[in-house]
Amino acid sequence: MFSPKRKSSNLDTTHVEASKKPKITPDEDADEDSPAPEIPFPDPNAAPDSLIDHKAALAYWSATEPTVTGVLGGFPQVSRVDLQGSSNFLAKLRRSSKHLPPGKKLRRAVDCGAGIGRITDGLLSRVAEVVDIVEPVQSFTDAIKGKPGVGEIYNVGLEAWHPDREGLGPYDLIWNQWCLGQLTDAQLVQYLQRLPKVLSEGGWIVVKENMSNHSLGEDVFDEEDSSVTRTDAKFRRLFGESGLKLVSTELQTGMPKGLYPVRAYALQPR
Ligand SMILES: C[S@@+](CC[C@H](N)C(=O)[O-])C[C@H]1O[C@@H](n2cnc3c(N)ncnc32)[C@H](O)[C@@H]1O
Repeated sequence: MFSPKRKSSNLDTTHVEASKKPKITPDEDADEDSPAPEIPFPDPNAAPDSLIDHKAALAYWSATEPTVTGVLGGFPQVSRVDLQGSSNFLAKLRRSSKHLPPGKKLRRAVDCGAGIGRITDGLLSRVAEVVDIVEPVQSFTDAIKGKPGVGEIYNVGLEAWHPDREGLGPYDLIWNQWCLGQLTDAQLVQYLQRLPKVLSEGGWIVVKENMSNHSLGEDVFDEEDSSVTRTDAKFRRLFGESGLKLVSTELQTGMPKGLYPVRAYALQPR
């Protein structure tokens, strides 16, 4: 799954390949001269993000219990250290900011791919007056509705969220964590390109995600929740293609051994 996850489970491609292969039943009546049937195998050379299937992802997440354990893929103990790291990262950004220095709450933030609002509860609603939520799974957002400081709730995937048309921004902070792997590379670039229009002056787009450390430097597709885990190099390339500049980045420290490394990036329009 795309939440904190074990490195080994993602690099064991033999298991994934085996379970993905549809069985071909030999057709005894088949005419030898008839054209070979089309085999609906995924192309083994296909780009990992081309395997993303939003329906399958939604089915997976909709069947997941609306708890921290559920959204963090069975690693709830990671939440505390993650939120502390995020809080420190944001505090440093604000200390070096002309427009949004410490001492006053941010006006509006948005928690993207918010799940049950773990980050809204543990960080964003403490630092912002209002936090909007974007999350496609309604059973998750039912857990957030009506909480103090929570504003608009958009039950859509980020690929279909157009805050420039329907949003209540501008946002001082647009937080994206453990969810961007649900988007293809092209969808991610298009999504990031929409954000500067709803970002306030000096505001930040934060991306905090698992990093693929595949031995050949490749992104890794995860069949379980139909997501990709990207490399650091891929993220930086896509940020560049989106017209964003990297203002700060940090590796999350204190994560349990055996999980993917987690990196936070703060971005602003170029
Ligand atoms: C690993 S959970 C992370 C939740 C939250 N960001 C956190 O860190 O607690 C991944 C979340 O992405 C959501 N998701 C699935 N497809 C998505 C999409 N296309 N756009 C945005 N979020 C999506 C899932 O429903 C789930 O809530």
